[in-house]
Amino acid sequence: MTDPASPQAVLGSLTEAAIFLVATVDGGGEDTARDLLADLAGLTRAVGFRAADGDLTCVAGIGAEAWPRLVGGEPPSGLHPFREISGPTHTAIATPGDLLFHIRARRMDLCFELASLVTTRLAGAATVVDEVHGFRYFEQRDLLGFVDGTENPTGAAAAAAVLTDEPGFEGGSYVIVQKYLHDMDAWNALPTEEQERVIGRRKLSDVELSEAEQPANSHVALTSITDDDGEELEILRDNMPFGRPGSGEFGTYFIGYAADPAVTELMLEHMFVGDPPGNHDRILDFSLAVTGGLFFAPSGDFLESLADPPSSSGAGGPGTGSLNIGSLKRGSA
Ligand code: HEM
Repeated sequence: MTDPASPQAVLGSLTEAAIFLVATVDGGGEDTARDLLADLAGLTRAVGFRAADGDLTCVAGIGAEAWPRLVGGEPPSGLHPFREISGPTHTAIATPGDLLFHIRARRMDLCFELASLVTTRLAGAATVVDEVHGFRYFEQRDLLGFVDGTENPTGAAAAAAVLTDEPGFEGGSYVIVQKYLHDMDAWNALPTEEQERVIGRRKLSDVELSEAEQPANSHVALTSITDDDGEELEILRDNMPFGRPGSGEFGTYFIGYAADPAVTELMLEHMFVGDPPGNHDRILDFSLAVTGGLFFAPSGDFLESLADPPSSSGAGGPGTGSLNIGSLKRGSA
């Protein structure tokens, strides 16, 4: 039995491989989706134990529109459909998504196996609307050639940045995903020094540009944000490169966990609208956001409780008596 507030593996580190699945739940597919979510930890153990050094984890998130269908009751206070953010030049679009599966491991075979089990269980009940297979690229670099993830919080700071303590939803986390496609021809046409001014760090050494050198429209300048007391506001990013060179596809899958989605949204606002407005993030001149979604990843215990009758689930479990989910738990695939 897990601790009631034990999170899913949102604090896991960057891995060599990851699969991101976004699915919409078909009408009538709710029971199947709920059963899968309740069984997900067991499925992950079944696959992961076969290669224990592979560090397989899976985090599931639920979208705002799916919450009443799958869980019921009051949703977490910050859960809402991803809000499109439109600036004068660039737009962070919103795309459909009821469920997110963030599968990661040191080996792609483990991710692939779990993704296969998940999609098999969802067959006929949900439609996968986006699937991205990410890989580690050299020294945790993105396909723009820069080390990605350096300033992520670690340890207790990461837990504080990522996990909510909202009553009933303790140990949960809000997760925003966006799939970006890079214009490599335009990017490669820039001299390295100019690329460094776009990102805000040195390319080879990964050292941040000094305050005097840092342009106001660099990625680092626009995503470094503080609260009214000057305290830094942080999120945990697990971005992964992906692509198909033969098709000219070079991308970054952005995934950011936060205790409060408003933090990630403020970063997006700065990137897309600009800070001040009009001063947008230059990374967007080379990176097109083609998806956008917001999900809530409840604690592991909350997910497992989706299989229980609402009357016995207690605080933090499914919220209404109208779901008729008491006797539906099925065996694992
Ligand atoms: C920093 C790449 C999208 C938030 C960075 C860094 C790189 C990078 C190379 C510097 C190293 C590091 O600290 O990780 C990218 C790429 C993106 C992308 C290629 C997609 C095209 C985003 C988005 C957000 C974001 C959408 C938030 C909504 C941040 C933050 C930092 C950062 C908070 C650390 C800033 C600091 O405190 O120095 N990113 N990023 N990134 N990025 Fe991104």
